[in-house]
This record gives sequence, structure tokens and C-alpha cells, in this order.
Amino acid sequence: MWYLQTSPCDKGEKMLKMWYSFLLCLLSLQLDANPGLKVRITQKGLDYGRRIGMELLKQAILKETFPSWTGQESFSFVKVNYKISGLRINAVDFPETSASFIPGTGISLSVARASATISADWRMKAWLLSRDQGGITVSISGLFMAVVFEVSRDSTGRLSMLVHNCQLIINSIKVKLNEGSSWVYSFLSGYLEKTIKTKLDKNLCLNIKYKIQMMDAQLRKLKVLSQIDAFAQIDYSLVSSPTVFKSHINLDLKGTVYPVGNHTDPPFVPAPFALPNQGDSMLYLGVSNYFLKSASLAYYRAGVFNITISQELATSFNLTTAIFNDFVPQIAVYYITAHPVLLKLMATSPPAVSLQADGCSLQITGCVDVFVVLPNSTIQYIFTGNLTASTRANLTVTKQKLIISLLLKRLQFSLLHSIASFSEQVSLVENFLSYALQSVVIPVINDKLGKGFPLPNLAHTILIRPVIKINQGHLVISTDVHYKQKGGGDEDLHSHS
Ligand SMILES: *[C@@H]1O[C@H](CO)[C@@H](O)[C@H](O)[C@H]1NC(C)=O
Ligand SMILES: *[C@@H]1O[C@H](CO)[C@@H](O)[C@H](O)[C@H]1NC(C)=O
Ligand SMILES: *[C@@H]1O[C@H](CO)[C@@H](O)[C@H](O)[C@H]1NC(C)=O
Ligand SMILES: *[C@@H]1O[C@H](CO)[C@@H](O)[C@H](O)[C@H]1NC(C)=O
Ligand SMILES: *[C@@H]1O[C@H](CO)[C@@H](O)[C@H](O)[C@H]1NC(C)=O
Ligand SMILES: *[C@@H]1O[C@H](CO)[C@@H](O)[C@H](O)[C@H]1NC(C)=O
Repeated sequence: MWYLQTSPCDKGEKMLKMWYSFLLCLLSLQLDANPGLKVRITQKGLDYGRRIGMELLKQAILKETFPSWTGQESFSFVKVNYKISGLRINAVDFPETSASFIPGTGISLSVARASATISADWRMKAWLLSRDQGGITVSISGLFMAVVFEVSRDSTGRLSMLVHNCQLIINSIKVKLNEGSSWVYSFLSGYLEKTIKTKLDKNLCLNIKYKIQMMDAQLRKLKVLSQIDAFAQIDYSLVSSPTVFKSHINLDLKGTVYPVGNHTDPPFVPAPFALPNQGDSMLYLGVSNYFLKSASLAYYRAGVFNITISQELATSFNLTTAIFNDFVPQIAVYYITAHPVLLKLMATSPPAVSLQADGCSLQITGCVDVFVVLPNSTIQYIFTGNLTASTRANLTVTKQKLIISLLLKRLQFSLLHSIASFSEQVSLVENFLSYALQSVVIPVINDKLGKGFPLPNLAHTILIRPVIKINQGHLVISTDVHYKQKGGGDEDLHSHS
């Protein structure tokens, strides 16, 4: 009754508060983060998943074991004690299955005209009758089942799945006795047909719900952070609930690359981008400029672009003061006998990534310090300059990973400071540095990037014929997938749809 006591003024304040929280709600909706990575599964992908799924289900059903059961029934005023054991499913067939997307909800899977053959041993004892036993075959046919799975995002950004609806219709259950009298036959067939139907009606949907709950628990355990190498990790958490359309499902992932151990978000956010409206591949992966930019920042912070070239590293040329004879005699005069030279290269800002329709490029700005190592191991400074290396990034997908390798296009060098002035020879120094970068530095960076970025992927699947298309601001990888059965078998599962 407290509201009766509030003055009109308080009421106004309450309204204002409500209005504020309403605005905040709207605002937070608009602030919903854009994804750095997008995954789309098409109808083609869903159909492949269904084929594999049904085949796996078949294998699982055939391997399933069942407890035996005993009981007592009255039959024509006679008490019968019986035991059914050794229950096994000998054959199962799913001639008609289909899977489709249900916009706004999830995925529907239906099975029609399914059949199964079950065999078991029976044993019974009735008053005034001797013990009897034998085998039975149960044929189930015309089984129709429809299950709707709801997909969502849990509070930790993982995919969650639950059974929204499950329907089961069984048309026929027939029991055949391999031996036994007609009395036993009429008792067992009537009793078993009813019992099996009740058991299936009661348990099949429950069982599926339970299995999906187990799967959901597995999904919740999936790591949303994927380790790339010693330097960086990717955050694959969902930024919003999966969106289901008639022809596909979209998953929006955070797609931020962090330096290992520091999950401070980068000082920039993803720009919105869209995947193409195509359905001829099973899977479309959209990689934003943001993803690559955060990777560049992470690797920069990890010091991947800081490289010191020494004589040991420079295997294709002799990195000694003798090289100065060729282009900076003003420096060479200081060193009559050859001494080792050190080139210390440092990136001074995170390399700038650019995705354009004609390709991906990376511009590394930094500086170089050149030193001579004297016989008593003292390091003597010679000169410093600024560097801008323009590289083209070659993107390939190998083994479920996006691999980036750099190719030097152009190097610009400007002298900042030197022990001897040599402004006339700057372009010669630039040529030499360009050669050193191409032959030593870029291979070292490529080696560090060589582990590649693991792409979001399902367990035991490999990407088939992935194609990369680079657009302004993002790239799209379209690919089919292939399921590899546990245990290393590479062959496709033989299945019919
Ligand atoms: C993580 O990185 C941010 C940005 O560079 C920095 O400000 C912060 O101090 C770092 N935190 C740790 C624990 O290293
Ligand atoms: C890279 O080198 C520069 C200059 O020596 C240094 O300031 C910076 O801390 C280095 N970065 C890392 C991550 O080691
Ligand atoms: C470097 O110099 C040494 C002798 O000073 C020579 O034996 C070697 O072949 C040279 N290496 C290259 C790659 O030029
Ligand atoms: C190393 O040798 C150089 C030149 O010979 C000399 O100037 C310097 O003082 C020496 N340094 C040490 C630590 O001996
Ligand atoms: C060299 O690079 C630094 C840092 O990127 C920049 O501040 C400076 O202006 C550059 N100097 C020249 C001469 O280009
Ligand atoms: C890009 O990388 C692939 C695989 O490593 C290689 O075959 C191809 O030649 C490279 N392309 C360029 C332009 O370097």
C-alpha cells in the first residue's frame, strides 16, 4: 500500500526513473557489440550434418545394450512369471529424414517411416506349466518422429541447445516367436507389443532430451578462448544469440585476438559487415578487419615485430662491416678489419592492416638501429633510421587455419642519426635493408605467424576446398566440411538421405 503514501512529486520521480531505465535498455540494445567473426551454416551444411548425424545415431543404436526385465502378469487367470533378456537392435532404417531451420527458434529434425528389428530371449514359468523359453523378434515399422531443437547463447557466450518439442508416432509393432506353443505366443505377443509401445512412447523423447542435455553440457564446456601460439589467443564467444532464418543460421562471434594473459579489449571496435546471400557452400566464415587489427595489435604487444638480425641469423649474406665498403665508405673507413654488425628492428606502432577488394596488406612502421660488435664484445652504435615496410599478406586456409604470410612490396628508409653523415647513400642503404628484410626479417615473421589462426570449427571435421574472397573491410571463407570419424578413418560415412 506504500504507493498511496507517495506524493505526486515522488510519482514524477518514479516515472523519470522508469523512463531512464527504459532509455538505458534501448541504449544497451543499440550498444550490442558487432561481431569480429561471423559463421553461417546453410541448408546444405545442415543436410550434411543430418546425414552424418543419422549415420552416427544408427551406429549408436546398434551398439546400445538394454537391461533385461522380469515381471508377473495374469493371463487367462494364470499367473505368469517371465523374463526378457538379451535385448538387442539388429537393424534400423531411416529411409526418410529431413532437417530444416525454424526462423526465430532453431532447427527441426524429422524422421518418417523408420523401422527397426529387435531380438530378445524370453523365459517364463506359469502355474501348472513347465518352464519354457525361446527367442523373439520384434519388428517396429512406420515410426514417425519430429524434434525441434532450440538454439541460444548462454550467459558465458557459449552455444546452448535444448529440445523444444518432441513428437513420436508408432504405427506398428509386431512380435514373432521363434518357438513355443500358441498359448505362449498369444501371451507374449499381446503383452510385448503393448509394453514396447508404452516404453517407446514414454522414453524415446525423454531419452533424446537427456542426450541433448548431455550435449549441451559438453557445449558449455567448450573453451571460448583458443590458443594460437605462445603469443596470442582468440576469443570465440558468441556476442548475441544465434539468429535463425529460413535458409541458414548465423552465429556472431567476438573474434578478438588478445596477447596471452591480457584480455584488455583493443581501443577500437568492429564495424558491421554482412555475409553474402549464398547457399552453395555448407559454411561461410566472415573475418573482419577488426579481427586482423586485433591480431596485429596482439603480436605487436608480444614483440613479434621486434627482431635483431645478427650474423647467425643472416645466412644469405655476411653481416659484417665489410658490407659498408659497397655503399657507405664513410663508415667503412672506421673498420679496417671486418667486425660483425647487428641490425635491431623495432615496430613503433601496431602494423596497419587493410583489406581491400584487391587483397590484404600490412604496413609496418618502425625504426632500425645499426651496431658494430667490437672484438671485446662492446656494442658500438653506428646509425638509426625510420622504416616503413609495405607488405602484401598472402592468406591461405590450411588444416582449419587461416595462415597469413607476408611478402615485402616496398621499403622506405629515412636516416635519423649517424656517427658519419651519408645522406647521398641513403637509397643504397634502403636497398640493402630491403634485401635484409626480404631474406631474413619477413621469413622470421612468417615463421612466427605460421601456426595460423584456428578457424571456428566442429570437432572431427575438416574444411573441404575453402575459398577466400577478400572484400573491403572483411573477408569471407566459403567452404564445405567433411566429417572424419574418431579413430582416424578418413572415408566418408556411407549413408543415404
Ligand atoms: C594489458 O594491456 C593493457 C593495454 O596495453 C595495459 O594497459 C594493461 O596494463 C595490461 N595489463 C596487464 C595485466 O598486463
Ligand atoms: C620492442 O622494442 C622497443 C624498442 O627496443 C621496446 O621499447 C619495446 O618494449 C619492444 N616491445 C616488446 C613487446 O618487447
Ligand atoms: C662470409 O664470409 C666468409 C669468410 O669471411 C666466407 O667463407 C663465407 O662464404 C661468406 N658467406 C657468404 C654467405 O657470403
Ligand atoms: C672495447 O674496445 C674499444 C675499441 O678498441 C674501446 O674503445 C672500449 O673502451 C673497449 N671496451 C671495453 C669494455 O674494454
Ligand atoms: C620517425 O618515426 C617516428 C616514430 O614513428 C616519428 O615520430 C618521426 O617523425 C619519424 N621521423 C622521420 C624523420 O621520419
Ligand atoms: C601464397 O601462399 C601459397 C601457399 O603457401 C603459395 O602457394 C602461393 O604461391 C603464395 N602466393 C604468393 C603471391 O606468394
